[in-house]
Amino acid sequence: TTSGASAAAVEKGNYRHYMQKEIFEQPTVVAQTLQSYVHRAQETVALPQIDFDLSTIKRVTIVACGTSFYAGMVAKYWFEQFARVPVDIDVASEFRYREPVLEDGGLALFISQSGETADTLAALRHCKQAGQTIGVVVNVPTSSMAREADLLLPTHAGPEIGVASTKAFTCQLAVLAALAAHLAVKKGHMSRDEEREVVGHLLEAPACLNAALDHDDDIASMAHLIAPARDVLYLGRGPDFPLALEGALKLKEISYIHAEGYASGEMKHGPIALIDDQVPVIVIAPSGPLFEKTVSNMEEVRARGGQIVLISDREGLDAAGEGCIATIEMPRVHPLIAPLVYAVPVQLLAYHTACVKGTDVDQPRNLAKSVTVE
Ligand code: G6P
Repeated sequence: TTSGASAAAVEKGNYRHYMQKEIFEQPTVVAQTLQSYVHRAQETVALPQIDFDLSTIKRVTIVACGTSFYAGMVAKYWFEQFARVPVDIDVASEFRYREPVLEDGGLALFISQSGETADTLAALRHCKQAGQTIGVVVNVPTSSMAREADLLLPTHAGPEIGVASTKAFTCQLAVLAALAAHLAVKKGHMSRDEEREVVGHLLEAPACLNAALDHDDDIASMAHLIAPARDVLYLGRGPDFPLALEGALKLKEISYIHAEGYASGEMKHGPIALIDDQVPVIVIAPSGPLFEKTVSNMEEVRARGGQIVLISDREGLDAAGEGCIATIEMPRVHPLIAPLVYAVPVQLLAYHTACVKGTDVDQPRNLAKSVTVE
C-alpha cells in the first residue's frame, strides 16, 4: 500500500528517477527543515512547539523501522553525547513484543516518513497507554502519527515518491540534531556559546550537501566497480556506523546486491571471513579521533585482498587513501553534520549501481513505500 502524495502529482523534471530527484533536493529540503528548528538571528535552536519543557525528560525511547530506524540510531549517539540522556532504541516490530520497561518521565520518540507504518504506530499507541510523552518526527503532517503526537516535529522534505527513502532521512537527521542540541541546552549540558557554534554548523549542512552532490559523476563511474559484486560490506564507526547500515540497506533495496553494514570494530568478529578480492568494502570514515582505529580495520581488509572504497575528507584520504580501489572526497565537516553529508555518497552509490544493473529504482520488487500491515 502507498500513502501520501501520488507519483502522478509530483513531476520528475529533468531527472531519470524520483529517487535521483529526491537525492538532489536534499540541500533545499534540509535548509527548509532547519528553518523551523533554528532561530537564525538569535543563533539558538528552537523547536516549533516551544511551550514544551523538555528539561524533565529522564530517558528517551526511540522506535522506528527501516531507514527511519537508522536516523534514530544516529540520534542515540547525539542525545547521549550532547544531552547526556540515556536512550533506548529498537525496531518497532521487536519493541512492542519484548515488554519494554517504560518509566515515568520518559519521552517516546517515533520516527517515520509516512507516519503510517503499522508497527511504529502500534508501538506509539502502546507507549501512549503507558503514560510516555509522545514525540513524533514525521514527514506527512496529516498522518496518523502526526495526529497522535504530544510533541510534533515535522520534517519538511516534501512528498517522497521513491520507495527507498533518501531526503526524508537527511531531514530526520536535521530535526534530530536540533532536538539533541535543544535537549542539551535544557538539561544544562550545552552553554550559550556551544549552542551558537552548533547552530552555525547545522546551517552549514545545505552547502556541505551540495559539495557532496558534486561527486555524482565520479560515483556514477565507480558504480561499475560495485555492480558485478555478489556481496558488499559497509563499515562505519560511532554516529557513522548507522550510515554503514543505511548504505547497505539502500544497495540491497534497489540493486538487489547482498550488502551488510557493520561497526568497523566488529568486522573481525565474523564478516572478515567473507573478505576476498571479489568483495568491495565501503568505508565511511570522516577524519577525527576515531579515524586511526578505522584505518587499522582497513588494513585488516586490505591484507585479505578486500577492495576498499574510502569515503572521507581530504585529511582522511591523505592519511589512508592509498591502495583503495576508489575514494570519494567529502568536505571537512563538524561531527554533528557528518551523518547528513555522508548519506549523499552512499545514496548515490546505491542509485548508480542500480542504474548499471537496470533495476526498477523507484519501485523495487517486493517493497512498499509505506508498510501498513504488521
Ligand atoms: C518501508 C520503506 C522504507 C522506509 C520504511 C519505514 O520499508 O520502503 O523506505 O524506511 O518503510 O517507513 P516510514 O514511513 O515509517 O519511515
